[in-house]
This record gives sequence, structure tokens and C-alpha cells, in this order.
Amino acid sequence: MAQILGGIFTSHVPGIGGAIAKGVQQDPYWSPFFDGFKPVHNWLKTAKPDVAVVFYNDHGLNFFLDKMPTFAVGAADTYRNADEGWGLPVQNSFKGDTALSWHIIEGLVADEFDITTCQSMLVDHAVVVPCQLAWPGGVDWPVRIIPIAINTVQFPLPSPKRCLALGRAVGKALRSWQGDERIVVFGTGGLSHQLDGERAGFINQKYDRFCMDKLGPDVDALTTISALDVIEEAGSQGVEIVNWIAARGALGDTVHELSRNYHIPISNTAAATMLFATENEALEQAA
Ligand code: DHB
Ligand code: FE
Repeated sequence: MAQILGGIFTSHVPGIGGAIAKGVQQDPYWSPFFDGFKPVHNWLKTAKPDVAVVFYNDHGLNFFLDKMPTFAVGAADTYRNADEGWGLPVQNSFKGDTALSWHIIEGLVADEFDITTCQSMLVDHAVVVPCQLAWPGGVDWPVRIIPIAINTVQFPLPSPKRCLALGRAVGKALRSWQGDERIVVFGTGGLSHQLDGERAGFINQKYDRFCMDKLGPDVDALTTISALDVIEEAGSQGVEIVNWIAARGALGDTVHELSRNYHIPISNTAAATMLFATENEALEQAA
């Protein structure tokens, strides 16, 4: 039986990729953020996942404003990275897992999610930077990935409630998969940030802390407001928190928070990292 081990939640600021390229992770500006990944590295050593399901948003690389799916699920053999304009070094391609992708897709459609399926899909910094953080060193990726893109870019945006339902349906599909994959779930983006307009630079620590406090024990508390209200609270790009909400949904009812880090600012963003184990995995690690 496939096993969902836990979830890694992190900001995906492109500047993090730039810092990795320059090797300045231990500079005073960056170390408070990168140090937050030590518990993640330790956990991954034991958890040893072989598949990563990554909830993220594309930023104009694979989907542009002319074609914007609300929810898109990767079903490709390979996912190539490319630079959508940040000047970041292009990272190695990821292997996909088409059989598990189609199982998820079948589960989602059976559960009445009208998704877009992508048999070819480029992945941007929102997939690559979190994976570089989790598996530093620039070698081949130790996991196959299943990218699940949520539109956080072009109105109308899906509600936090709908994103949580999507994540829960993905979790249900994963738990019904007969393979013996060890699965880690990623939620990338956030926390509060706004890159443009009159409120450029906007950060809301109070809302970020509310999100981090509720994500584990009571994720439904993050879904009582609309996507537009999340933008009011967290900034126009802070709405990327819906990727975290969906990923949390996939982990099941009970999770154990293993670590959390919150650091302001990385670029224009309140950067955060959280790690959760699912109930099964917590028992396994304790045994
Ligand atoms: C930044 C943050 C993001 O989430 C992103 O996709 C691009 C840039 C930033 O803070 O610079
Ligand atoms: Fe982003």
C-alpha cells in the first residue's frame, strides 16, 4: 500500500535559487531561512520518499494568461525546468510517475473535479526551488514528481475551500493506490507578499502566524474566507497559501508538526518553512 509520509511546506522565492547558485546560503541575510531546512533534511534521511506530489502555482512558464487552468495535474514521463525570466540556472529534469498520475486524475474526476491533464509540462521555480531546498547538492533528484498546479495568478481564483477539497481528494486517491510508493507532499509559495501595485512590499505577520498555527490542527479555519479576502490579508501573491492548504488536505486528518521557521523578508516575502509527519509516519519513526 502506498504511504503518505508527511508534508514539506515552503516559500519558493526565486532569489532562494539565486542564493543557492551563488553558494551564499550561510550569509547573514540567507542563513535564518536556509537553517530552517535542517529538520527537513534529517527527516528525509529516514523517511526516504520515492514520490513527491507538489502543489504549486505556475508563474507564466507552462501556462500563460491566454490558457489558464484552475487545477492542472501532471501526467508526464519527464518534467523539464526552464527559466521564465529570473535568470536562474536551469535544473535537471524530474522523472514523472505516469501510472500514479493517472490514478490521481481518475480519482479526481470521479470526485467531480474538472481538472486539466498535462502530458507535457514545464516546471518553474515554484517546483524547483523547494526541491533544491529539500535535496541540496545539485545531483539527480531522488524522487519522481507529480506536479499539481493551482491558478493563483489570473482571476477568477479558486476558493481556499475548493483547494482544500482538491487536496483531500488527492490524498484519498493516493491512499487507494495499490503500489508501495513512499510519498511526500509539498505545498509551495507564500507566505504574505505582494510584488506589485500600491501595496508592493506588503507583509502581514499576524495573518501568517494564524495560517501557520491553524495549518496542522484546523486547516478548515483557513477556508472560511474567499481568495479575494486572502489577498486583502496576505497580498496579491500571498494567495499562494492555497497551495499549502491543498497540500495539507492531502495529508489526512491528523498530522504532527515537526518543525517551523518564519523569516522576514526574503526578497519581498515573509518566508516560511513547515514540516509535518502524518500519523502513520510519526509512529514509524518512533518505533
Ligand atoms: C518572489 C516571491 C514569489 O513567490 C515569486 O513567485 C516570485 C518572487 C519574491 O519575493 O521576490
Ligand atoms: Fe510565487
